[in-house]
Amino acid sequence: MLGYVDLHCHYLPAIDDGVKTIAEGAELCRALRSIGYDTVVATPHIRSAMFENNKANLEQVYSNFVAQTREMQDMPKTGLAAEHFCDDVFWNLFATGASLPYPGGHAALVEFPPTAIPRNVEQRFFDMQRKRVRPVIAHPERYTPLFKQTDPIDRMLDMGVLAQLDLMSLTGKYGRATQSAAERMVEEGVYYLACSDCHKPADVPIVADAIARLFELVGEEEAKELLSENPTRILSGRINA
Ligand SMILES: [Fe+2]
Repeated sequence: MLGYVDLHCHYLPAIDDGVKTIAEGAELCRALRSIGYDTVVATPHIRSAMFENNKANLEQVYSNFVAQTREMQDMPKTGLAAEHFCDDVFWNLFATGASLPYPGGHAALVEFPPTAIPRNVEQRFFDMQRKRVRPVIAHPERYTPLFKQTDPIDRMLDMGVLAQLDLMSLTGKYGRATQSAAERMVEEGVYYLACSDCHKPADVPIVADAIARLFELVGEEEAKELLSENPTRILSGRINA
């Protein structure tokens, strides 16, 4: 096994824009295992007015998924977290213990709006860190203010916020601007980890191509850090960034 750990994936059925059925979710998990993932954590969207999920319904959907797939061969280990849209709803969820950090509770995945870095986010991230939950920014290369420069999130990175690459950005799936931003940020060493952000089984071959590209760009040692060692550190709480 290659031991990759995916901390961004939409394999829980019929709760966001990911897979539609348990069978499709299982197919996605098994396909990821076939390209080297031994752990895949579900990160369904929590986003007001779009994906009205909460901790209770997601835990229920997840435990049902685990029960229904328990007997299947070739499943990776699974886990549950969420991709939290960065708005006041999230800050309230976080403050009241109703958000869904990564297993272990040491870090939480946060998504920005596509065209603007939210105001006051630095202070909010500081509050998260004070509670010993490390913010993880989902796919910074996909936000327009970061297409040409990383400066808007530099201070966050300096304070220990972690950046997560969407592997498929490297293949051009989201367009040229995102692809070149991803390549630039890889070169700059911005990312702490790289993840699939798969929404359907058909994404997996694209992720496989992206992993090959990542190895080309950074070499084997750093690629393994991004795909395996650092996501494992997030789950164990031994984050060294
Ligand atoms: Fe996602």
